[in-house]
Amino acid sequence: MTQAVIKNEQREFSFSEDEFRFLAKLVGELTGIVLAEHKTDMVYSRLARRLRTLNLSSFAEYCDLLQTEEGQEEIPQLVNAITTNLTSFFREAHHFEHLRDTVLRPLAASPPSPKRLRLWSAGCSAGMEPYSIAMTLKSAIPNLDAWDARILATDIDTNMLRTGVCGEYPLSEFDHIPPSLRGDVQRSKERIRMSESLQKRITFNELNLLESWPIKTQFDAIFCRNVVIYFDKPTQQTLFSRLADHLKPGGWLYIGHSENLHNVCDRFELVGRTIYRRIR
Ligand SMILES: C[S@@+](CC[C@H](N)C(=O)[O-])C[C@H]1O[C@@H](n2cnc3c(N)ncnc32)[C@H](O)[C@@H]1O
Repeated sequence: MTQAVIKNEQREFSFSEDEFRFLAKLVGELTGIVLAEHKTDMVYSRLARRLRTLNLSSFAEYCDLLQTEEGQEEIPQLVNAITTNLTSFFREAHHFEHLRDTVLRPLAASPPSPKRLRLWSAGCSAGMEPYSIAMTLKSAIPNLDAWDARILATDIDTNMLRTGVCGEYPLSEFDHIPPSLRGDVQRSKERIRMSESLQKRITFNELNLLESWPIKTQFDAIFCRNVVIYFDKPTQQTLFSRLADHLKPGGWLYIGHSENLHNVCDRFELVGRTIYRRIR
Protein backbone atom coordinates (compact mmCIF):
# COMPACT_ATOMS: atom_id res chain seq x y z
CA MET A 1 0.00 0.00 0.00
CA THR A 2 1.35 3.45 -0.82
CA GLN A 3 1.46 6.11 1.82
CA ALA A 4 -0.70 8.73 0.05
CA VAL A 5 -2.55 9.75 3.18
CA ILE A 6 -5.94 11.52 3.12
CA LYS A 7 -6.47 14.31 5.69
CA ASN A 8 -4.86 12.26 8.39
CA GLU A 9 -3.69 15.00 10.74
CA GLN A 10 -6.52 14.72 13.25
CA ARG A 11 -7.20 11.07 12.76
CA GLU A 12 -6.50 8.33 15.26
CA PHE A 13 -5.53 5.89 12.48
CA SER A 14 -3.76 6.65 9.22
CA PHE A 15 -5.92 5.91 6.18
CA SER A 16 -4.42 6.11 2.69
CA GLU A 17 -6.18 6.43 -0.66
CA ASP A 18 -4.96 2.97 -1.60
CA GLU A 19 -6.40 1.51 1.58
CA PHE A 20 -9.74 3.19 0.86
CA ARG A 21 -9.68 1.82 -2.70
CA PHE A 22 -8.84 -1.67 -1.47
CA LEU A 23 -11.74 -1.63 1.01
CA ALA A 24 -14.17 -0.11 -1.51
CA LYS A 25 -13.31 -2.81 -4.06
CA LEU A 26 -13.69 -5.59 -1.50
CA VAL A 27 -17.01 -4.23 -0.19
CA GLY A 28 -18.27 -3.82 -3.79
CA GLU A 29 -17.43 -7.44 -4.59
CA LEU A 30 -18.96 -8.73 -1.36
CA THR A 31 -22.17 -6.69 -1.24
CA GLY A 32 -22.72 -4.70 -4.43
CA ILE A 33 -22.45 -1.50 -2.40
CA VAL A 34 -20.57 1.15 -4.37
CA LEU A 35 -18.33 3.28 -2.15
CA ALA A 36 -17.38 6.43 -4.04
CA GLU A 37 -14.45 8.48 -2.82
CA HIS A 38 -16.68 11.00 -1.01
CA LYS A 39 -17.57 8.12 1.36
CA THR A 40 -14.03 8.09 2.76
CA ASP A 41 -15.01 9.73 6.06
CA MET A 42 -17.97 7.41 6.49
CA VAL A 43 -15.80 4.34 5.85
CA TYR A 44 -13.19 5.66 8.27
CA SER A 45 -15.62 6.28 11.10
CA ARG A 46 -17.48 2.99 10.67
CA LEU A 47 -14.32 0.91 10.54
CA ALA A 48 -12.29 2.78 13.17
CA ARG A 49 -14.43 0.93 15.75
CA ARG A 50 -13.35 -2.39 14.24
CA LEU A 51 -9.69 -1.36 14.42
CA ARG A 52 -10.07 -0.51 18.12
CA THR A 53 -11.87 -3.78 18.84
CA LEU A 54 -9.15 -5.73 17.04
CA ASN A 55 -6.36 -3.70 18.67
CA LEU A 56 -4.94 -2.66 15.33
CA SER A 57 -2.99 0.54 14.93
CA SER A 58 -3.60 1.39 11.27
CA PHE A 59 -5.86 0.74 8.29
CA ALA A 60 -2.86 -0.86 6.60
CA GLU A 61 -2.94 -3.55 9.29
CA TYR A 62 -6.68 -3.97 8.84
CA CYS A 63 -6.31 -4.38 5.05
CA ASP A 64 -3.51 -6.89 5.60
CA LEU A 65 -5.68 -8.85 8.03
CA LEU A 66 -8.52 -9.08 5.52
CA GLN A 67 -6.14 -10.77 3.09
CA THR A 68 -5.14 -13.55 5.47
CA GLU A 69 -6.95 -16.82 6.16
CA GLU A 70 -7.71 -15.91 9.78
CA GLY A 71 -8.93 -12.51 8.60
CA GLN A 72 -11.84 -14.16 6.75
CA GLU A 73 -13.71 -14.18 10.07
CA GLU A 74 -13.59 -10.41 9.97
CA ILE A 75 -15.45 -10.22 6.64
CA PRO A 76 -18.99 -10.36 8.15
CA GLN A 77 -17.98 -7.65 10.64
CA LEU A 78 -16.70 -5.49 7.78
CA VAL A 79 -20.01 -5.97 5.93
CA ASN A 80 -22.07 -5.25 9.07
CA ALA A 81 -20.07 -2.09 9.69
CA ILE A 82 -20.43 -0.76 6.15
CA THR A 83 -24.11 -1.42 5.45
CA THR A 84 -26.53 1.46 5.98
CA ASN A 85 -29.49 0.11 7.94
CA LEU A 86 -31.82 3.10 8.24
CA THR A 87 -35.39 1.86 8.59
CA SER A 88 -38.56 2.35 10.62
CA PHE A 89 -42.03 0.88 11.08
CA PHE A 90 -44.39 1.76 8.22
CA ARG A 91 -41.69 3.67 6.38
CA GLU A 92 -43.26 4.90 3.11
CA ALA A 93 -46.73 4.24 4.52
CA HIS A 94 -48.46 4.29 1.13
CA HIS A 95 -46.91 0.88 0.36
CA PHE A 96 -48.69 -0.69 3.34
CA GLU A 97 -51.96 1.03 2.43
CA HIS A 98 -51.62 -0.35 -1.10
CA LEU A 99 -50.79 -3.82 0.23
CA ARG A 100 -53.87 -3.72 2.48
CA ASP A 101 -56.39 -2.18 0.07
CA THR A 102 -55.29 -3.36 -3.37
CA VAL A 103 -53.60 -6.69 -2.68
CA LEU A 104 -54.82 -8.29 0.54
CA ARG A 105 -58.45 -7.18 0.98
CA PRO A 106 -59.47 -8.16 -2.59
CA LEU A 107 -57.73 -11.53 -2.11
CA ALA A 108 -59.51 -12.11 1.17
CA ALA A 109 -62.85 -11.14 -0.36
CA SER A 110 -62.60 -13.27 -3.50
CA PRO A 111 -64.24 -16.65 -2.94
CA PRO A 112 -62.70 -19.05 -2.38
CA SER A 113 -59.95 -17.23 -0.48
CA PRO A 114 -56.58 -18.41 -1.72
CA LYS A 115 -55.42 -19.19 1.83
CA ARG A 116 -51.75 -19.21 0.86
CA LEU A 117 -49.66 -16.05 0.79
CA ARG A 118 -45.94 -15.54 0.51
CA LEU A 119 -44.26 -12.15 1.00
CA TRP A 120 -40.57 -11.28 0.99
CA SER A 121 -38.85 -8.38 2.67
CA ALA A 122 -35.51 -8.40 0.80
CA GLY A 123 -33.04 -6.18 2.66
CA CYS A 124 -35.18 -6.12 5.80
CA SER A 125 -32.61 -4.41 8.05
CA ALA A 126 -33.64 -4.69 11.74
CA GLY A 127 -37.06 -6.11 10.93
CA MET A 128 -39.40 -3.12 11.13
CA GLU A 129 -40.38 -3.67 7.50
CA PRO A 130 -41.45 -7.35 7.85
CA TYR A 131 -43.21 -6.58 11.16
CA SER A 132 -45.11 -3.77 9.40
CA ILE A 133 -46.09 -6.28 6.70
CA ALA A 134 -47.21 -8.76 9.38
CA MET A 135 -49.35 -6.10 11.11
CA THR A 136 -50.86 -5.16 7.74
CA LEU A 137 -51.72 -8.81 7.06
CA LYS A 138 -53.50 -9.06 10.40
CA SER A 139 -55.49 -5.90 9.81
CA ALA A 140 -56.51 -6.81 6.24
CA ILE A 141 -57.43 -10.48 6.63
CA PRO A 142 -59.97 -11.15 9.39
CA ASN A 143 -59.44 -14.94 9.59
CA LEU A 144 -55.68 -14.83 9.04
CA ASP A 145 -55.05 -17.80 11.32
CA ALA A 146 -56.84 -20.00 8.81
CA TRP A 147 -54.40 -18.89 6.11
CA ASP A 148 -50.95 -20.21 5.29
CA ALA A 149 -49.43 -16.72 5.21
CA ARG A 150 -45.72 -16.30 5.71
CA ILE A 151 -43.13 -13.56 5.40
CA LEU A 152 -39.50 -14.17 4.51
CA ALA A 153 -37.19 -11.44 5.83
CA THR A 154 -33.59 -11.45 4.61
CA ASP A 155 -30.56 -9.25 4.93
CA ILE A 156 -26.80 -9.48 4.57
CA ASP A 157 -26.23 -7.84 7.96
CA THR A 158 -26.24 -10.44 10.74
CA ASN A 159 -26.50 -7.86 13.54
CA MET A 160 -29.71 -6.49 12.03
CA LEU A 161 -31.15 -9.97 11.66
CA ARG A 162 -30.51 -10.67 15.35
CA THR A 163 -32.55 -7.60 16.25
CA GLY A 164 -35.33 -8.74 13.92
CA VAL A 165 -35.47 -12.21 15.49
CA CYS A 166 -35.52 -10.66 18.96
CA GLY A 167 -38.40 -8.34 17.96
CA GLU A 168 -37.55 -5.64 20.52
CA TYR A 169 -37.10 -1.98 19.67
CA PRO A 170 -36.62 1.33 21.45
CA LEU A 171 -39.80 2.96 22.70
CA SER A 172 -39.23 5.85 20.28
CA GLU A 173 -40.25 3.50 17.43
CA PHE A 174 -43.76 3.13 18.88
CA ASP A 175 -45.03 6.37 17.34
CA HIS A 176 -44.38 5.07 13.82
CA ILE A 177 -46.97 2.33 14.29
CA PRO A 178 -50.54 3.41 13.45
CA PRO A 179 -52.68 3.42 16.63
CA SER A 180 -55.14 0.88 15.18
CA LEU A 181 -52.31 -1.66 14.69
CA ARG A 182 -50.70 -1.41 18.11
CA GLY A 183 -52.61 -4.36 19.57
CA ASP A 184 -49.69 -6.69 18.80
CA VAL A 185 -47.07 -4.45 20.38
CA GLN A 186 -46.23 -4.82 24.04
CA ARG A 187 -44.93 -1.64 25.56
CA SER A 188 -42.68 -1.26 28.59
CA LYS A 189 -40.88 1.78 29.99
CA GLU A 190 -38.04 1.79 27.47
CA ARG A 191 -38.81 -0.84 24.87
CA ILE A 192 -41.52 -2.19 22.64
CA ARG A 193 -41.85 -5.87 21.85
CA MET A 194 -43.53 -7.58 18.91
CA SER A 195 -46.15 -10.19 19.84
CA GLU A 196 -45.56 -13.88 19.27
CA SER A 197 -48.38 -13.95 16.76
CA LEU A 198 -46.43 -11.48 14.58
CA GLN A 199 -43.10 -13.20 15.18
CA LYS A 200 -44.36 -16.62 14.14
CA ARG A 201 -45.30 -15.34 10.67
CA ILE A 202 -41.77 -14.17 9.87
CA THR A 203 -38.65 -16.18 9.04
CA PHE A 204 -35.43 -14.17 9.28
CA ASN A 205 -32.54 -15.47 7.18
CA GLU A 206 -29.14 -14.20 6.18
CA LEU A 207 -29.05 -13.74 2.43
CA ASN A 208 -26.73 -11.81 0.15
CA LEU A 209 -28.78 -10.54 -2.79
CA LEU A 210 -25.69 -10.81 -5.00
CA GLU A 211 -25.22 -14.51 -4.38
CA SER A 212 -27.39 -17.53 -5.16
CA TRP A 213 -30.72 -17.72 -3.33
CA PRO A 214 -31.85 -21.01 -1.83
CA ILE A 215 -35.46 -19.94 -2.44
CA LYS A 216 -37.96 -21.88 -4.56
CA THR A 217 -41.00 -19.80 -3.59
CA GLN A 218 -42.96 -17.68 -6.06
CA PHE A 219 -43.94 -14.68 -3.97
CA ASP A 220 -47.18 -12.72 -4.09
CA ALA A 221 -45.29 -9.54 -3.22
CA ILE A 222 -41.70 -8.48 -2.67
CA PHE A 223 -40.49 -5.45 -0.74
CA CYS A 224 -36.98 -4.51 -1.87
CA ARG A 225 -36.79 -0.93 -0.67
CA ASN A 226 -33.84 1.37 -0.18
CA VAL A 227 -31.38 -1.42 -0.90
CA VAL A 228 -30.35 -0.90 -4.53
CA ILE A 229 -29.60 2.82 -4.15
CA TYR A 230 -26.12 1.68 -3.16
CA PHE A 231 -25.72 -0.65 -6.19
CA ASP A 232 -24.50 0.17 -9.71
CA LYS A 233 -26.86 -0.19 -12.67
CA PRO A 234 -25.71 -3.61 -13.96
CA THR A 235 -26.11 -5.04 -10.43
CA GLN A 236 -29.61 -3.50 -10.22
CA GLN A 237 -30.51 -4.93 -13.64
CA THR A 238 -29.51 -8.45 -12.66
CA LEU A 239 -31.18 -8.18 -9.26
CA PHE A 240 -34.58 -6.98 -10.49
CA SER A 241 -34.72 -9.63 -13.19
CA ARG A 242 -34.03 -12.26 -10.52
CA LEU A 243 -36.71 -10.73 -8.31
CA ALA A 244 -39.15 -10.96 -11.24
CA ASP A 245 -38.32 -14.68 -11.52
CA HIS A 246 -39.36 -15.06 -7.88
CA LEU A 247 -42.65 -13.19 -8.22
CA LYS A 248 -45.87 -14.80 -9.41
CA PRO A 249 -47.10 -13.34 -12.72
CA GLY A 250 -48.95 -10.19 -11.69
CA GLY A 251 -47.10 -10.19 -8.35
CA TRP A 252 -46.32 -6.89 -6.66
CA LEU A 253 -42.96 -5.20 -6.16
CA TYR A 254 -42.36 -2.30 -3.77
CA ILE A 255 -39.16 -0.29 -4.10
CA GLY A 256 -37.64 2.68 -2.25
CA HIS A 257 -38.69 6.30 -2.65
CA SER A 258 -35.55 7.33 -4.56
CA GLU A 259 -35.41 4.22 -6.75
CA ASN A 260 -36.99 3.40 -10.12
CA LEU A 261 -36.86 0.66 -12.74
CA HIS A 262 -36.52 2.93 -15.79
CA ASN A 263 -33.77 1.41 -17.98
CA VAL A 264 -33.22 -1.19 -15.28
CA CYS A 265 -35.85 -3.86 -15.85
CA ASP A 266 -38.75 -4.06 -18.34
CA ARG A 267 -40.46 -7.02 -16.71
CA PHE A 268 -42.56 -4.76 -14.47
CA GLU A 269 -45.16 -2.10 -15.08
CA LEU A 270 -45.43 0.92 -12.83
CA VAL A 271 -48.83 0.94 -11.12
CA GLY A 272 -48.35 3.49 -8.33
CA ARG A 273 -45.71 5.55 -6.57
CA THR A 274 -42.72 3.13 -6.47
CA ILE A 275 -45.15 0.21 -6.84
CA TYR A 276 -44.78 -2.26 -9.71
CA ARG A 277 -46.45 -5.41 -11.06
CA ARG A 278 -44.68 -8.22 -12.81
CA ILE A 279 -45.86 -8.33 -16.43
CA ARG A 280 -43.42 -10.82 -17.97
C1 LIG B 1 -31.39 1.26 4.16
S1 LIG B 1 -31.74 -0.38 4.64
C2 LIG B 1 -33.41 -0.54 4.08
C3 LIG B 1 -34.26 -1.35 5.04
C4 LIG B 1 -35.73 -1.47 4.63
N1 LIG B 1 -35.87 -2.19 3.39
C5 LIG B 1 -36.39 -0.12 4.55
O1 LIG B 1 -36.60 0.39 3.44
O2 LIG B 1 -36.69 0.45 5.59
C6 LIG B 1 -30.81 -1.31 3.41
C7 LIG B 1 -30.54 -2.75 3.83
O3 LIG B 1 -30.02 -3.47 2.71
C8 LIG B 1 -29.09 -4.40 3.19
N2 LIG B 1 -28.18 -4.83 2.10
C9 LIG B 1 -27.22 -4.10 1.49
N3 LIG B 1 -26.58 -4.86 0.58
C10 LIG B 1 -27.17 -6.08 0.61
C11 LIG B 1 -26.96 -7.29 -0.11
N4 LIG B 1 -26.00 -7.40 -1.05
N5 LIG B 1 -27.73 -8.35 0.19
C12 LIG B 1 -28.69 -8.26 1.13
N6 LIG B 1 -28.95 -7.15 1.85
C13 LIG B 1 -28.19 -6.07 1.59
C14 LIG B 1 -28.37 -3.65 4.31
O4 LIG B 1 -27.74 -4.52 5.21
C15 LIG B 1 -29.51 -2.86 4.93
O5 LIG B 1 -30.03 -3.49 6.07
